[in-house]
Amino acid sequence: MLLVTGGAGFIGANFVLDWLAASQEPVLNLDKLTYAGNLHNLDRLQGDARHVFVQGDIGDSALLGRLLAEHRPRAVVNFAAESHVDRSIHGPEDFIQTNVVGTFRLLEAVRHYWSALPAIEKEAFRFLHVSTDEVYGSLAPTEPAFTEQHGFEPNSPYSASKAASDHLVRAWHHTYGLPVLTTNCSNNYGPYHFPEKLIPLMIVNALAGKPLPVYGDGMQIRDWLYVTDHCSAIRRVLDAGRLGETYNVGGWNEKPNIEIVQTLCRLLDELRPRADGQSYAAQISYVTDRPGHDRRYAIDARKLERELGWTPAETFETGIRKTVQWYLEHPEWVANVQTGAYRDWVAQQYAGESA
Ligand code: NAD
Ligand code: TYD
Repeated sequence: MLLVTGGAGFIGANFVLDWLAASQEPVLNLDKLTYAGNLHNLDRLQGDARHVFVQGDIGDSALLGRLLAEHRPRAVVNFAAESHVDRSIHGPEDFIQTNVVGTFRLLEAVRHYWSALPAIEKEAFRFLHVSTDEVYGSLAPTEPAFTEQHGFEPNSPYSASKAASDHLVRAWHHTYGLPVLTTNCSNNYGPYHFPEKLIPLMIVNALAGKPLPVYGDGMQIRDWLYVTDHCSAIRRVLDAGRLGETYNVGGWNEKPNIEIVQTLCRLLDELRPRADGQSYAAQISYVTDRPGHDRRYAIDARKLERELGWTPAETFETGIRKTVQWYLEHPEWVANVQTGAYRDWVAQQYAGESA
């Protein structure tokens, strides 16, 4: 079986659902269920014996030791992380604990387990670490996209903690021979995306008649990838990636934030027009910029295409339409996440901004 960490979050849940739709191989899903972990993301797997969920922390060495000994996975896919840049600015501690210390504890537990495996299982074992393009820092407008050779220049507590985890994974390969693979992916979007991130926040705020808060001038550029394309890239790297290598994953979809917001407004105008006949664009509101805001990310994903033949299946146009439709068709999911910690966070983050 596979051990997936963070499999109740946005990308992890999509990965587990996709995996079990295509394979009979069971998944042991270890997730702490922070504010970002949501078991409703996995509702489709209720009663499916191939999915074993355990609530727990990747930093809990004793739990990891027990789970590895009992379930004997042939691979680990590590999604578990604190993932939101704005939260990392307000409170970096959890990011260091989970992304750095947690990854270290997971690597150590896996190393002990892997070292004791019989030769054939040891040879076949894989540890795949899911990381981000944000470790590379920020690009000027005309600079070429990030390749795997680009130096690490992380600028936020989030990206610094992910860069640290990538370094640990690399070192566990070089020092101990642990068979690792690392993927560095651009911004994902799609179903089950927690509405603190740009795209789902804009959709749910638009539908609720709330302001659409665009940071600064809205001209920051991100490179967007539909989440199931990220999942297919991870499956491909897990299958055939060269040990110790890193693979950039991206959708060749560089867009300024304001263009994303305008596209969402246009789609919502078409699919769920406002009762007053106005465009959702009337709700766009420019707000104070994020401190240290990275200006541009862009991923060069040619290595993954050249070596492993992976390309994304969705264009931005098909992916963003599917995403908007998914949110329109799942109001109960949206209502579920709009409680407790999420509401408190939004109130804190946008306190004092114009309505
Ligand atoms: P998410 O915040 O939606 O989900 C993270 C999951 O990890 C949650 O279910 C949470 O409960 C769990 N978790 C947090 N701390 C944990 C701990 N200590 N032990 C066990 N579980 C814990 O994040 P996501 O967007 O799904 O991102 C998943 C991974 O992909 C992260 O490593 C992130 O850095 C990386 N990534 C994300 C993006 C993106 O655009 N979202 C892009 C590139 C890479
Ligand atoms: P986000 O989804 O938080 O991802 P990341 O910071 O990891 O790229 O933000 C994407 C972009 O959207 C980023 O440039 C910040 C911007 N943004 C806004 O303009 N308004 C918002 O309310 C949010 C959450 C993000």
